[in-house]
Amino acid sequence: MKETSVLCLLFLISLLSCSTNQARLTVSPSSSQFFQYDFVSLSCEEDDSSAGWTLRRNTSKQERTQCGDGWGTPAGSSCNIRYTYPSDSGVYWCESREGTVSNMVHLTVTVLTLPD
Ligand SMILES: *[C@@H]1O[C@H](CO)[C@@H](O)[C@H](O)[C@H]1NC(C)=O
Repeated sequence: MKETSVLCLLFLISLLSCSTNQARLTVSPSSSQFFQYDFVSLSCEEDDSSAGWTLRRNTSKQERTQCGDGWGTPAGSSCNIRYTYPSDSGVYWCESREGTVSNMVHLTVTVLTLPD
């Protein structure tokens, strides 16, 4: 019985430490649909600012590339994409050094075609 309570306590502690070390990926402007040449800012918002999150993405061409590695400009805890292109379409997420991942956001960039 005693061991069970210790295990429960350990379980609770691990749950608590997980929830305080969570990041949320937010997209600004708040949308998942963009047009070519739009400006997008992605940021990893965290409870523990010392955690050090990396913004990564999977696109149809590349997997798990991080902001600044061929795409985006790191700006503090944010990553800015000055001009979006259809090739920026993909899944974006924040990842900690320990491998913890945030929510995932699917962005789609389309070419705006004007009617003739
Ligand atoms: C990104 O691509 C890798 C390799 O295909 C895959 O293992 C991983 O699950 C993908 N991640 C997301 C968030 O889609």
